[in-house]
Amino acid sequence: MRLAVNIDHIATIRNARGGKVPDPVEAARICEGAGAAGIVCHLREDRRHMKDSDLLALRSSITTKMDLEMAATEEIIEIALRIKPELITLVPERRQELTTEGGLDVIAKKKHLSSVLERFRRENIHVSLFIAPDERQIHAAADIGTDMIELHTGEYANSDEENEIQEYLQRIHESAKLGKSLGLGVNSGHGLGYDNIKLITAIPEIDEVSIGYAIIVRALFVGLEQAVKEMMTLVNG
Ligand code: PXP
Repeated sequence: MRLAVNIDHIATIRNARGGKVPDPVEAARICEGAGAAGIVCHLREDRRHMKDSDLLALRSSITTKMDLEMAATEEIIEIALRIKPELITLVPERRQELTTEGGLDVIAKKKHLSSVLERFRRENIHVSLFIAPDERQIHAAADIGTDMIELHTGEYANSDEENEIQEYLQRIHESAKLGKSLGLGVNSGHGLGYDNIKLITAIPEIDEVSIGYAIIVRALFVGLEQAVKEMMTLVNG
């Protein structure tokens, strides 16, 4: 299983004082040096963490894989087509939310997402759709020709009840199997951390996990390199 590190909150801390540090480019370099298979950043409509200039700087410094998370809006699509990351993860976005809440409704937005996918395909950019572990959404995602899906692990991660945890886990596992059987790459993420990653790593159909907040928080105490290495150890079993 691969680990992609989301470094949005390096930019959140940088923006707190409006200066240049901590630098997302330096963070990406440290994460890659510690073994991360990719760097994830989210360009939000309100630019609350990553700025357009960060994407340009990251584009020319990332040596593994740049995964740009974004909403499928015209402004951001045009930027993404200029940046040309290796992977785009399409997510739903609302201005008021603290972080991405819920997955994309691919069924309801099939036509729009299908045309967006086509624009990226023409530029040889791979696309992943961030969706709930829901059979109907996975079929819809495969129907419109996505390369990958990212299964939303938020409900699993936020649950304290043992039977609920098992139920969500089962759903994620079934969804990962379905995704694979339809020929899709399967990523997963949201809310994953040092305390809940183990059960996810036991699902062999998941190719990659995307983790941000937990790693950046751990980095405050042990440093970013160590925080990524600790997660790498868990992800690799
Ligand atoms: N995957 C997606 C699609 C996300 O939107 C986020 C949050 O930016 C993550 C993964 C990472 O979530 P977390 O920061 O909780 O690890």
